[in-house]
Amino acid sequence: MNELGAKLRALGLVPRALAAWAGTDRLSALYPSRLLDQPITPASVALAMFVAGIELDVDRAARLPLDDLLAAGLVERSRTRVRATLALLPLRSSIIACDRADADETEHLVCWPDDSSYHLLSAIPRGTYGHWHDLACGSAIAMLARPELATTRTATDLNPRAVAFARLGAALSGVALDTAVGDVGGDIGRPDLVTCNAPMPASTTDPADGEPIWQRTSGRFFEALFARREPLIVVHCVRDAIPARLPGERLVATYTMGHPAFSVLWWRPHAPRRAAEVLRPVTADRPHVDLADLDELSG
Ligand SMILES: C[S@@+](CC[C@H](N)C(=O)[O-])C[C@H]1O[C@@H](n2cnc3c(N)ncnc32)[C@H](O)[C@@H]1O
Repeated sequence: MNELGAKLRALGLVPRALAAWAGTDRLSALYPSRLLDQPITPASVALAMFVAGIELDVDRAARLPLDDLLAAGLVERSRTRVRATLALLPLRSSIIACDRADADETEHLVCWPDDSSYHLLSAIPRGTYGHWHDLACGSAIAMLARPELATTRTATDLNPRAVAFARLGAALSGVALDTAVGDVGGDIGRPDLVTCNAPMPASTTDPADGEPIWQRTSGRFFEALFARREPLIVVHCVRDAIPARLPGERLVATYTMGHPAFSVLWWRPHAPRRAAEVLRPVTADRPHVDLADLDELSG
């Protein structure tokens, strides 16, 4: 699979080519439906197929390794047409696998990366961690964007489809990643770093209504998350979910794009007790919470 990922990258599935073709390489700012009329050149065939989700004539797609892609189930074809079965998105030196942007909103949808994903991945403190565990990993975007942060990595999610996509993205990207289906409160051994981009607040918490898992949450999710005690826990979540009191050091950067407000929490449960919070504007220059916010909070 790593070889197939390398072939796709060589065929233009890389951020620089995406920025040239689509006007941005920020995945959360892409609207695949607006890319349908972009010119498809040999250099953009892979982007057209896997990012924009455009169905192509077999002749036009011939530049791609179609036999390998078919064997891996990444495309489906009729006699004359080829279509991606999923989205493959270039991010830094990796490829993220998730559901197509036009996929139906099923319960197990694995969502396209949004700004919440970027807030988390840009807020993880630099360093070399021994073991990093990403809870509620989705497509494992954080670990695939920043694999160099840790020697070993584990990604878990309640949604088995998300775990399968995380595994596929890691394999295509040549990133060593252990994956498992797991609840946010599960036993995860003794990682040095834990990250979690929590599900979005839902209009309902009733699992029976089929709302996608990624935007369905309950008090129980946050109870389990805030009962954790690993040395460093970095969370992106809705502001109101963060308890007013947590053991140790609780640093919060909050931003609003309307209601509700969201935050990144840097939490060191075993550090001396300290709490600080900043409200930070979201600007074109700094659209996501980052380490300058942490520096400000660390004083
Ligand atoms: C907002 S998405 C974040 C996905 C990914 N980490 C990212 O940043 O793009 C939230 C994720 O939480 C997962 N999830 C929901 N409830 C969970 C639970 N109880 N335990 C573990 N994961 C859960 C969903 O399946 C979804 O993948």
